[in-house]
Amino acid sequence: MDNRRLYAAELLALHAAFGSDEVLAEETQDLYAESAANTSSTEPPHQREPSTLPKKPAPIPNPTSQRIPIALESQDAATASARKLASACTNLAQLADAMVGFEGSTLRQTATNLVFGDGNPQASTMWIGEAPGADEDRLGKPFVGVSGQLLDLMLAAINLDREHAYISNILPWRPPGNRKPTTAETEVFLPFIQRHIELVDPDILVLVGGTAASTILRRPEGITKVRGRWLSYEVGGRGISVMPIYHPAYLLRQPTLKRDAWRDLLAIKERLRSLEP
Ligand code: URA
Repeated sequence: MDNRRLYAAELLALHAAFGSDEVLAEETQDLYAESAANTSSTEPPHQREPSTLPKKPAPIPNPTSQRIPIALESQDAATASARKLASACTNLAQLADAMVGFEGSTLRQTATNLVFGDGNPQASTMWIGEAPGADEDRLGKPFVGVSGQLLDLMLAAINLDREHAYISNILPWRPPGNRKPTTAETEVFLPFIQRHIELVDPDILVLVGGTAASTILRRPEGITKVRGRWLSYEVGGRGISVMPIYHPAYLLRQPTLKRDAWRDLLAIKERLRSLEP
């Protein structure tokens, strides 16, 4: 090895030792689209137009990682495979196993733990957020960081806690660098959260934030438009009551919206009371 290559290898090893074990681009990359574009061409690779996307840098060697790089399927193939896996699951343990084994997304490669759910699956309310952050990834539980602390306060405001509520996310794996999930990612994981809702079968579904609301409700409006309105989610021939609310992370940035959030929580409390025998 010449000196320059030796130096570069040492520098990469140093970054890896400092914990920089993933390479992030400035912009979100749609790897499904990239993969589809690469596999749909019949031309041999050397005859294709040069890609306008930035080249992926060489991966940093990580001798402790046992993960085998997965070949990305197209988004449609990944979604179809998610749907097939999810529909075969008849309980939550099977669903969690299926999600751990699902190879249709690269998110699994950069995350540490699957974040499946927390709380009581027998509870009347199911709360669905966007995606795990760093704390959730480390602990394998949803909403355990700063946003989670506010979510716990929101639950407590209507006499709920994690023994009387069930919590999950649209994505079970942390997007690297806490970036916002792409639509391709939320669509690929949609069959899993749909089956998750079906298996938990709550009386009330609370969609926490814009990503959860638009992904589950299939509506283009932002959270400001849909929040605070009772909607319905059809599953297995019955309609589950749905309330979209502001995400706690958004409320931390926009505290003046807490008044609206409070109103939405009271509506949930009212509805819960009406369900009591
Ligand atoms: N934000 C989310 O949407 N979900 C989590 O689990 C944590 C933060």
